[in-house]
Amino acid sequence: MWDQRYQGDEFAYGTEPNSFLQQNAGLLAGPVLCLAEGEGRNAVFLASLGLDVLGVDGSAVGLAKARKLAAAKGVVIRTEVADLATYAPPENFFGSVVSIWAHLPGRLRQRLHRLAEHSLRPGGIVLLEAYAKAQFARTTGGPGDLDRLMAREEIEQEFPQCEPILSREIEREVVEGKYHTGLASVVQFIAKKKT
Ligand SMILES: C[S@@+](CC[C@H](N)C(=O)[O-])C[C@H]1O[C@@H](n2cnc3c(N)ncnc32)[C@H](O)[C@@H]1O
Repeated sequence: MWDQRYQGDEFAYGTEPNSFLQQNAGLLAGPVLCLAEGEGRNAVFLASLGLDVLGVDGSAVGLAKARKLAAAKGVVIRTEVADLATYAPPENFFGSVVSIWAHLPGRLRQRLHRLAEHSLRPGGIVLLEAYAKAQFARTTGGPGDLDRLMAREEIEQEFPQCEPILSREIEREVVEGKYHTGLASVVQFIAKKKT
């Protein structure tokens, strides 16, 4: 389904970074692991700040476009095609983990977040934005599946070794390509791994 969505020259979520990431990028240190990176807009943005970035996604088509976007912007990113249901990042390695609209089934998300936390070095940062459960009633983006939508409390529990810097559910206007446009209920989470 994702390879199909990413066919063609158009970027499904645009080429500009996610605005929550953009506003908070100053908190991040490299190397950065970008989960469910898709067509690369966020990884390319972070690379343009001088960060070493690895984008992981299940779509080879999406990541090929990500590398093209990086080349067009004069930056380098690393990419890895992997199923996040089984992906195991290296432990104690990354300065930051970024997860933007990465909507796995709850059980797989819990597994991924546990491993993502292990992959952070002490003092490392996790930054996540995702559609909240309240988004289920809206048609402005995100999966129409409650199990894949997130709750702030769940995310806090899934990163027990991280101290929240910001953790909230809000409504905001999302303008990120044709699939994500309009007023939306989102979870925003930034936390620092305990040292
Ligand atoms: C809504 S897109 C978001 C892409 C990107 N984070 C962005 O904000 O532009 C969701 C991404 O999750 C990826 N994805 C979904 N399930 C996955 C899985 N099990 N393993 C790897 N990637 C997955 C899709 O390929 C897709 O690129």
